[in-house]
Amino acid sequence: MRIDICTLFPDSVDAMLNVSILGRAQERGYITIQSHQIRDYTTNKQMQVDDYPYGGGRGAVMQADPLYRCWDHIRQTYGPGRTIFLSPCGRTFTQDVARELKEKYDHLILVCGHYEGVDQRFLDECVDEEISMGDFVLTGGEIPAMAVCDAVCRMVPGVLPEEECFQEESHWDHLLEYPQYSRPAEWHGRKVPEVLLSGHHANVAAWRRKESYKRTIRRRPDMFAQFDQSKLTTKADRKILRQALEELEAEEASGAEQPKEMET
Ligand SMILES: C[S@@+](CC[C@H](N)C(=O)[O-])C[C@H]1O[C@@H](n2cnc3c(N)ncnc32)[C@H](O)[C@@H]1O
Repeated sequence: MRIDICTLFPDSVDAMLNVSILGRAQERGYITIQSHQIRDYTTNKQMQVDDYPYGGGRGAVMQADPLYRCWDHIRQTYGPGRTIFLSPCGRTFTQDVARELKEKYDHLILVCGHYEGVDQRFLDECVDEEISMGDFVLTGGEIPAMAVCDAVCRMVPGVLPEEECFQEESHWDHLLEYPQYSRPAEWHGRKVPEVLLSGHHANVAAWRRKESYKRTIRRRPDMFAQFDQSKLTTKADRKILRQALEELEAEEASGAEQPKEMET
């Protein structure tokens, strides 16, 4: 997977994406992430990349030409890629979108806007799709671009030690992950669930699955509605879901103090 990022702030992007797991994956050649300074593609002495908006109004708009030159350089040098503009007007980014990008493309070009945004003519001519981080507005597309990079790259084979590392995590199957615990076995009077200390792998797996169902149903019933129950092919699988539902019902009926994950 190759990802090129067009930005006015390459240092911020590099500082985040060249370290830790993604930094090591780049050193080992599993992924390549390269940021490109849009200002380097200006043709004026001041290296100006933005100007006032036609029609009036506050702020500045990023001009089409420096962006186009930057984008064109990337395509001429590294080949065509799927061009994505990070924008609050795009489709919302989710794990499914990240999977789709990872599965369909081996080269992404991410374009980060700033100020009031980007001249629409660049978007019309060069961009394949717009992706949003959510219903809020940030000052620039750098944080969204880093999020897309991270979510996509961690699913590229070799980046994490095993596929299970991300396939058992929240959002993979429209489920949230079970609660995690580490040492010590008791902290501030709070004990780790007994089953996790038992060393019984099958029981641990069943408990985790059950807790994953319970947490998802409590916190994200909308997401649980998308969970594909036809994947529960064995009796044992179906029994775990039944137990989760029974436990939730019993907790509700008893009016017992709700666990943290029930608070919204
Ligand atoms: C201040 S914003 C511009 C917002 C724009 N004037 C509007 O109202 O839609 C500057 C840049 O930050 C990025 N950005 C801001 N919020 C974002 C979000 N929720 N998702 C993705 N990118 C975002 C985009 O690249 C955008 O061009």
